Parts: sequence; C-alpha cells; structure tokens
Amino acid sequence: MNIKDKIENLKKEKNAVILAHYYVEPEVQAIADYVGDSFYLAKIAKNTPADVLVFCGVEFMGESAKILNPDKTVLMPDATADCPMAHMATVEKVLEMKEKYDDLAVVCYINSSAKLKTVSDVCVTSANALKIVNALPNKNIFFIPDKNLGSYVKKNSDKNIILNDGFCPIHENISKEDIIAIKNAHKGVKVLMHPECPEETLKEADYIGSTSGIINFVNDCEDDEFIIVTEMGVLYELKEQNKDKTFYFPEPLPICADMKKITLEKVYNCLKDNLNEVEINEKTRKEALIPLDKMLELAK
Ligand code: 13P
Ligand code: SF4
Repeated sequence: MNIKDKIENLKKEKNAVILAHYYVEPEVQAIADYVGDSFYLAKIAKNTPADVLVFCGVEFMGESAKILNPDKTVLMPDATADCPMAHMATVEKVLEMKEKYDDLAVVCYINSSAKLKTVSDVCVTSANALKIVNALPNKNIFFIPDKNLGSYVKKNSDKNIILNDGFCPIHENISKEDIIAIKNAHKGVKVLMHPECPEETLKEADYIGSTSGIINFVNDCEDDEFIIVTEMGVLYELKEQNKDKTFYFPEPLPICADMKKITLEKVYNCLKDNLNEVEINEKTRKEALIPLDKMLELAK
C-alpha cells in the first residue's frame, strides 16, 4: 500500500482530518482535507467535528488549533517546525506598553506564541488585520510581533499604531530592488504581495493581501501572468486553480524552511503513533483563547 492510502486508512480509523497551510510542500497540500491561509485554518480548527487534527504547518498554528479546541487531539508532523517571528515580541514589553498608554489595545498577529496571546486583546491574521484594527474602539494600538504587517495597517488606519520590531525572515528578505528587477524582466505584469514584506517593497505592489487574497485575486483577474511576492508554496494552489496562467517569483526564491519540514512520511508517522501532540496548560489556554475568540467574532 502506498503512503497516501496508508494515511487515508489511518484518518478513517482515528476520525482525523489533515489541515495544511499553503506554504507546505505540494504533496502534503495534495493529501490534506483543508488547505488555506491562517485565518481559514483557524476557523476550520474551531469547527471540525473530527477527533484528531493533524496540523501541517508551524507551531503557532497547532497551538491555535488546540487553544480553540481543547478536547481534540492536535498532532504536529514535525515538532521543530516553528515560525521565528512568533517569538519576536516579549510579554515584558507588552506589559510596559499597557502601563505607558491609556486606551491601548494589544493586537497580536496570529503568527505568535501562545504566551504572547495571553497578554493580547485581539488576534488578527493578514486576511483581517485592517478590518479588526479599524473596528476596535481604542485609540492606541500596540501591534505585535510583525512590524511589516503593523506598518501596512498603520498606513491604512487613523489609529495611533505602535510598532514592534519583529518580522518574518522570509518576507523581510525581499527587497524593493528584487521587485524592480523582476518587474523589468516582465514588464506590465501585475505584482501581488503579502503584507509581511517590508514597507519599501510593498510600494511596488499592485495588490497587497494574505495568501488567500493573492489566490483569489488571480482567480478573478483575466491577466495571463502574475508576479507573486510571497512564499513559493502558494504556487501549488495557484496552478491547481489556474492551469493556463504563468507565475513569476522574485530571486532569491522565498522559501520558508520550517514549513518545508513537513513531509508525507512525518504526517503518516504522527498519525500512526500519535506523535508530537500539542499540549498547553489550561491557564495559558484560557487566556490565549480570549484574543482568538475575539478575532473570530470581529472578523465575521
Ligand atoms: P497567511 O496564510 O495568513 O497569509 O499567512 C502567511 C504566513 O506567513 C503564515 O505563516
Ligand atoms: Fe513564519 Fe515567515 Fe515561515 Fe510564515 S513564512 S511561518 S511568517 S517564517
């Protein structure tokens, strides 16, 4: 029996579902029950009737699934797949800001540790950050951990947004010059970009949005070619839905090594032996649930 069939059998036996982010390897996306951006996957994690969730992504995604769904078993194919940005803010700094500013909301990108979520008022993803920040009654916003998504929101909001010095190493590495070079090579082709890119780089974009936003833009646009400025993994879904369109990525190619740690073999092993189960102590879970639930409520 091949590995895909073995995974299928285990899924039935254990009443399990597989969730995968667009940045994981194509063969892993291909066997997943749900593939999507961070917001979509959080909603699925909250509502699935399955007993076991295998999360093909990085640590904060599995943690969020467990926080939202404490009675389910959440398994991670690779326990070391982590997002460096998730740890690029500190609880101490958040507490300091709460002391310093009146009328402050701490807005936490979902790409963050459970510990950071415990001191935050609301979570956001790149798909809903703008909508949620603008819906908050507070004047002052401390946006953690991503300075790039934070500065994109700041540009499109009247709030006093205080930035934190975190970033996604993959998107931070994409320079304005990289984009100018690819635009020169493909003149007139639209540039679709993820808001985790630096502020200067974002100025070169025709469209800015989450991974789902980028995919939807391509689906709805009649152009044949696109310059895609986010992690390469989205190419699989872009091609699935747009066989005849051509996609160009900037050099060096944006690849998240942590997302690429997930393999079919690891999915099979974790499902077979219940490996790398996500565990969060109940106090942390309850505190981190508040901003996640608030996100789901405000994003409706
Ligand atoms: P989205 O899929 O929400 O756009 O997030 C991008 C990302 O960096 C996930 O790690
Ligand atoms: Fe984190 Fe960036 Fe990788 Fe997403 S692409 S998991 S933000 S390092």
